[in-house]
Amino acid sequence: MAPNPLDPQKLPIVCRDITVEYREYVKKVGIIVFELLSEALGLNSNYLKDIDCAEGLFLLSHYSPPCLEPELTFGASAHYDSSFITVLLQDQLGGLQVFHQNQWVDVTPVSGALVVNLGNMMQLITNDKFVSVKHRVLAQKIGPRVSVASLFRQHLPLENSRIYGPIRELLTPENPPVYKETPVKDLVSHHNGKGLDGTSALEPFRL
Ligand code: OGA
Ligand code: NI
Repeated sequence: MAPNPLDPQKLPIVCRDITVEYREYVKKVGIIVFELLSEALGLNSNYLKDIDCAEGLFLLSHYSPPCLEPELTFGASAHYDSSFITVLLQDQLGGLQVFHQNQWVDVTPVSGALVVNLGNMMQLITNDKFVSVKHRVLAQKIGPRVSVASLFRQHLPLENSRIYGPIRELLTPENPPVYKETPVKDLVSHHNGKGLDGTSALEPFRL
């Protein structure tokens, strides 16, 4: 008899296996996105992969139960991701918004589609050419809402985490570096320490 995937005793194992498999696919998607972004910057298509942007993939799974008074809280308050990029899988309930041209804009779920956010590390290495996106998730009366955020952010053991500054090939006398050489661990720990307060974690790393 085929195993019942909803057997509560087996569920953790099934979920773990699905997550491990999903992670492999997300990594492939991420590498393609890094190739496209490298080309968009006028660099060799392997450039971002070669500087390890696709290493240290970190999955954050969110489960937001229905909220009786959604106007009093958020699913996630306004923030920027610390990553180079985040690949987001959201379900059909919506709630994700990006801050664009001074207003909050809904990112309407599209079945089968992933959302890619640019994060703070991407803004740093591109010297503000690519700007990280401020976003938030509204609380809703309907639920639960489930989403999986896959952050390409060098989540490695400390001794392996790299130092990044603006990519030299992008710099000119008219476009001098605006960020310091920054260890990923410093940016991530500053980001985590200050919480989701709507400010960018990049400020202390500006020259
Ligand atoms: C995040 C995030 C959005 C969502 O994990 O950083 O922004 O829709 N998640 O869960
Ligand atoms: Ni986020």
